[in-house]
Amino acid sequence: MTRWTTRGLVLLLWSATSCVTNPEPAREDSIIPDVLPAMVFPSDNPYSDAKAELGRHLFYDQRLSADGSTSCASCHVQDRAFSDAPHQISVGVRGEQGQRNSPTLVNVGYRRALFWDGRVSTLEDQASAVLRSPIEMDVDTTAVLNLLRADYRDRWVQAFGDTIPSIQRVAQAIATFERTIVSTGSRYDRFRRGETWLLSEQEREGMTLYFSSRTMCSSCHGGPDLTDDAFHNIGLFHHYFDRGRYDVTRNPYDEGKFKTPTLRNIALTAPYMASGDSEKGVLNTLEAVVKHYVDGGTTFHSKDARVKTLHLSAHEQQALVAFLHTLTDSTVLSNPRLSKP
Ligand code: HEC
Ligand code: HEC
Repeated sequence: MTRWTTRGLVLLLWSATSCVTNPEPAREDSIIPDVLPAMVFPSDNPYSDAKAELGRHLFYDQRLSADGSTSCASCHVQDRAFSDAPHQISVGVRGEQGQRNSPTLVNVGYRRALFWDGRVSTLEDQASAVLRSPIEMDVDTTAVLNLLRADYRDRWVQAFGDTIPSIQRVAQAIATFERTIVSTGSRYDRFRRGETWLLSEQEREGMTLYFSSRTMCSSCHGGPDLTDDAFHNIGLFHHYFDRGRYDVTRNPYDEGKFKTPTLRNIALTAPYMASGDSEKGVLNTLEAVVKHYVDGGTTFHSKDARVKTLHLSAHEQQALVAFLHTLTDSTVLSNPRLSKP
């Protein structure tokens, strides 16, 4: 396993130094995202600058899709924190639609399970699945291998040391790029690192509420990335057409459960939730999401007991929303190392 600290990785992204020494140990402290744990690169797909750079080019290349219309970046847009806001459901190859909202890819290298239902556990498998998906990119393998031979020869040799193209390696390069989409520069992070003047009184009031037992927000959205990487039903529907985690485990207790999303950059990624809505309508604003939690959601057999009517004044609800806005990190939205080549 290769380990780098976030600080090392950020340094790496900014200064393009190829080697980071003196890695710091991972921190256990769950609330203070002073330094995220070291990014782990799988031993069968170690990091190199050349591979991340190849991955970036492939991430933005529409020619990987069957009709040349779609790249990863079509549904994971940098200035929308690598989500597809404002679309509720993304449109893929040949205008096909899935049924879920496209999530942010910021800090996705830290996620233990991928997709809203957690059906895949590595970024390599995830990228392969999307490339092969008939409604997302539907790669034409022969055409893509020809493209790689024609246009990617030099980058390929630098990244993999030979000229043998494969879809599996495309996925490896893209996964390596994704592990460099790292953010710890929000006002909230900086506040935690000591720049206490960066949060207003209202935002600090919202933060206190967020981490309190009155709201329980941080019991699920906790840790450095404000997620527990677990699956919960938060009472959005009385009937789940998309059954979420149940489709993976077939355990009735998992019906309507979805992965707790990170709340980093949450102000930029509306509409919200796996489906982008609730049975009361599209959840287009953070105010609407907070209102959902205040109301306590539907009654559903697998609903988490922590989601129940909250007694928050209008003033407190506004403070909570104000706090969620402090989680935006504008540096990741404009970092040229993550942009379209
Ligand atoms: C047509 C739109 C579309 C395209 C194209 C697309 N994605 Fe996605 N992506 C989505 C949606 C929608 C989801 C959520 C699907 C689900 O949970 O079932 C998702 C989920 C993901 C996730 C999981 C994130 C998490 O936290 O669980 C990753 C990683 C990801 N996409 C990377 C990629 C990569 C890499 C590519 C290109 C190879 C790509 N996507 C192309 C729409 C798209
Ligand atoms: C029991 C665990 C749990 C608790 C408590 C909880 N959440 Fe969530 N939250 C989730 C899950 C799971 C989802 C995704 C649900 C879905 O898509 O069906 C979610 C979704 C969200 C979203 C939308 C994220 C996105 O990317 O679409 C926001 C915003 C949010 N929660 C904020 C909060 C706030 C604020 C609180 C406290 C008032 C809170 N949550 C309490 C588990 C929880």
